[in-house]
Amino acid sequence: MNSPHMQGLSLNAPAYVKNARLLAWVADMVALCKPANIHWCDGSKEEYDLLCQQLVDSGTFKKLNPAKRPNSFLACSDPSDVARVEDRTYICSAQKEDAGPTNNWMAPAEMRTTLQPLFDGCMQGRTMYIVPFSMGPLGSHIAHIGVELTDSAYVAVNQKLMTRMGKAVYDVLGVEGEFVPCMHTVGAPLAAGEKDATSWPCNPDTKYIVHFPETREIWSYGSGYGGNALLGKKCLALRIASTMGRKEGWLAEHMLILGVTNPAGKKYHVAAAFPSACGKTNFSMLVPPEAGFAGWKVTTIGDDIAWIKPQADGKMMAINPEAGYFGVAPGTNMHTNPNCMLSLNQDVIFTNVALTDDGDVWWEGMEQDTGVIPDHLIDWQGRDWTPQIAKETGAKAAHPNSRFTVAATNNPAIDPAWDDPAGVAIDAFMFGGRRSTTVPLVTEARNWTEGVYMAATMGSETTAAAFGQQGVVRRDPFAMLPFCGYNMSDYFQHWLDTGAKLAAAGATLPRIYTTNWFRKNAAGKFVWPGYGDNMRVLKWMIDRIEGQVHGEETALGVAPKYEEINWTGLEFSPEQFQIVTSIDVPAWQEELKLHDAHFEKLAYHMPQALLDTKAALAKRLAG
Ligand code: OXD
Ligand code: MN
Repeated sequence: MNSPHMQGLSLNAPAYVKNARLLAWVADMVALCKPANIHWCDGSKEEYDLLCQQLVDSGTFKKLNPAKRPNSFLACSDPSDVARVEDRTYICSAQKEDAGPTNNWMAPAEMRTTLQPLFDGCMQGRTMYIVPFSMGPLGSHIAHIGVELTDSAYVAVNQKLMTRMGKAVYDVLGVEGEFVPCMHTVGAPLAAGEKDATSWPCNPDTKYIVHFPETREIWSYGSGYGGNALLGKKCLALRIASTMGRKEGWLAEHMLILGVTNPAGKKYHVAAAFPSACGKTNFSMLVPPEAGFAGWKVTTIGDDIAWIKPQADGKMMAINPEAGYFGVAPGTNMHTNPNCMLSLNQDVIFTNVALTDDGDVWWEGMEQDTGVIPDHLIDWQGRDWTPQIAKETGAKAAHPNSRFTVAATNNPAIDPAWDDPAGVAIDAFMFGGRRSTTVPLVTEARNWTEGVYMAATMGSETTAAAFGQQGVVRRDPFAMLPFCGYNMSDYFQHWLDTGAKLAAAGATLPRIYTTNWFRKNAAGKFVWPGYGDNMRVLKWMIDRIEGQVHGEETALGVAPKYEEINWTGLEFSPEQFQIVTSIDVPAWQEELKLHDAHFEKLAYHMPQALLDTKAALAKRLAG
């Protein structure tokens, strides 16, 4: 089966790998990348343990104290490789207009010419891991298969936790099945006999995260970190999948999916989009307040990505394409996300958190659980850290974008249907930004188009999940700004068309809500308690769906009256409610100017229906 291009190294493909296109592609990529060895991942526990041990031996992993954190590891990256690199991320569609103004673009041929010399020999001295994975339950009609070729064992073990990875994927793929080829290299070849000088090989100078939507390919060069390197996640499940969904009539979204069951046992499903590091994982694992919410239960289907396929019966069926969580560690504790903390007790890969003197992990926010900040830690860069050093230098023990990788099955709140190939039927969509002013706690759109408008104009203050200035408001439509694989206005049109098609077939469309947990008072303090108390807002939404509350019409949509929220167990005065729900008309007039600028940037193919919705909103605000 060896390609005529291969130079000496035998593919040694296992007999169960029968897909001709896959074998030919691997042969070509081996010839291009020139690895020293090839490892076909089977996804077994033995393989995971072996690779983790190799990572310990090479110094990339530190094994944590098994008495504190069984079967868990800490990796600390190169300081230059700690977040997604949006300015190095490209959508290489044939036409620039199809990538749109929110994506970096290069003509496919030019990008291929750029990448060819970089990938030529890029894996010298390293092992190429062949990592087969299914995004979505194996064999689900909503799922898709990817195969990642990577020279990073860190990526291979993370993919085992984050996806359905291994041998069973080949049964689904068969001889002729389709897969998305995902090429990944850390971009640090080794000369003969050369050893890694660092425990986190990467290319500090050159990085490319490249998508070819027409040919459904991903090429990632130079980074070993998260969304740059675990190619099933942002690259396949969002950028490539969004283009597939547009063509095939479904949606690939930056959304958590949760189940919420009321005391009568009736269950609803909500898909919610928040920008990176704005609390999707926390919301997806929410624990309702003890007082006043007996019998309410929230269960997790997914914490980051949803694939949603409209069915002939009008239902919008959603799956979580992932099988694990790659979540932000700082700020996570027993108050903000108890289910997550319980998920992290064992079998976890931590990246860029701090190490305690007794071999456990620590990050900012954990002191809320223990009441103390440790006297001494090794910080994420391997340096001594003490509270005094932090006071003097501002050094964080854990990087603000430090992460945990853990299998979804570790989550005590996992939904029984999380792995159901049929998916779950969505009843409501939520869109939430991080805004210290202007945007109210919760608003229900009066119709689908108004909901699409709200999502299309969403703004959020930036976080550490991507390189760049933090805390500035940027428009992040549908929380998809860094993840939409095609022209954003065409994406808006796809949402409008999806709703129109379902409505024409007589379907009841899911309700659409916007939320903002982050309004601050005049003293600059958050007013809404957030976390478990977000259940109060979720319940209001369910009450709306059930027709139990009417809300009141505002210029923006339908908002709750104070007395419609269940306040049992929380002191939250009407004055505080007013701060988080008020609509400041002059601020909204300024906001509308920002919507104008945003729409001007997106003018190519901007749907007229959204321009009309903006005009109607401006009129309502004018009184
Ligand atoms: C993520 C992100 O890692 O959105 O999920 O950056
Ligand atoms: Mn995300």
